[in-house]
Amino acid sequence: MILVTGANGQLGRRIVQHLIARDPALLGGQLAVSVRDPARAGDLANRGVRVRQGDFGQPESLAAAFAGAERLVLVSTDGPREVRIAQHRNAIRAAREAGIRHILYTSFMDADAAAPTELAIVHQDTEAALADSGVDHTILRNTIYADDLCLLVAPDRQQDVLRLPAGDGAVSLVSRNELAQAIAAAALAPRLDKRVYTLTGQSSANYADIAGRIARVSGKPLAYQNVAPEDYVGSLVAAGMPAWFAAALGDMFRCVADGRFAATTCDFAALVGHPPKSLDCLIHEFYAPRNPS
Ligand SMILES: NC(=O)c1ccc[n+]([C@@H]2O[C@H](COP(=O)([O-])OP(=O)(O)OC[C@H]3O[C@@H](n4cnc5c(N)ncnc54)[C@H](OP(=O)(O)O)[C@@H]3O)[C@@H](O)[C@H]2O)c1
Repeated sequence: MILVTGANGQLGRRIVQHLIARDPALLGGQLAVSVRDPARAGDLANRGVRVRQGDFGQPESLAAAFAGAERLVLVSTDGPREVRIAQHRNAIRAAREAGIRHILYTSFMDADAAAPTELAIVHQDTEAALADSGVDHTILRNTIYADDLCLLVAPDRQQDVLRLPAGDGAVSLVSRNELAQAIAAAALAPRLDKRVYTLTGQSSANYADIAGRIARVSGKPLAYQNVAPEDYVGSLVAAGMPAWFAAALGDMFRCVADGRFAATTCDFAALVGHPPKSLDCLIHEFYAPRNPS
């Protein structure tokens, strides 16, 4: 049985959907999810997915949540660094105690850098905990979600400047849904050749280039402007973002500026059988004007 955590979240739910699409026979009792609020997973229960209650912050809930699973897709949580580190360690400990044979963990692209970002520190710790656990495991290091472009530049925008502390550093974006597709493929693979898969786009581009492509597709001007990290973080906090998250984003874009999110790999294609969508395709999906129906 495969068990997916975080299945009420955006990535976890898509992983479950791709697992079912790839192998509908899983619905005969071979697919389970662990979520904090089972009432929000009624649609999955109705389809034949086993829905369990599990909260990484309440380790006592995890023995029953993980019971009987052979493979665990461990979706990283959100929140401040110390909270997530403790949660992930609780989940790995519970998986080992439940006799899970293989853990697939959704990590982050920059996780092995010598000077990691605030976000990557969590993933570095969790990867180390996996190595120490003695449980066979696969690490899926996700790039930055392409979908998050829409948080930086809303499709129905008035905004004509994209301000980020990303310098001219490039990013190789993949949609959340495609990352879920690759993670589901890994969870179903009879054999995985590598311990670490780094899931990136086909190519990388800097934010000046991305802004230009958005402008062309949307038909509305958009310029990129590099800003100081402290000004960026200050503007996010002033807009109401929690301080830890604003600091984490500022830190991440500083590392983008250092070129640490620019790499591209063939790992996505190795798992899925074809490359992810191109940047132009993604930008068209997000920003092309819609014909009123
Ligand atoms: N690569 C990127 O660009 C990027 C961007 C944003 C986030 N992330 C990371 O990727 C993860 C998944 O992304 P997403 O888009 O699905 O985020 P999301 O929709 O915000 O989902 C957050 C996930 O965290 C889980 N979670 C939170 N607290 C938990 C706890 N105490 N115990 C167990 N699970 C807990 C939730 O589980 P429930 O199902 O129980 O609600 C949910 O699946 C995020 O949590 C974050 O670590 C990556």
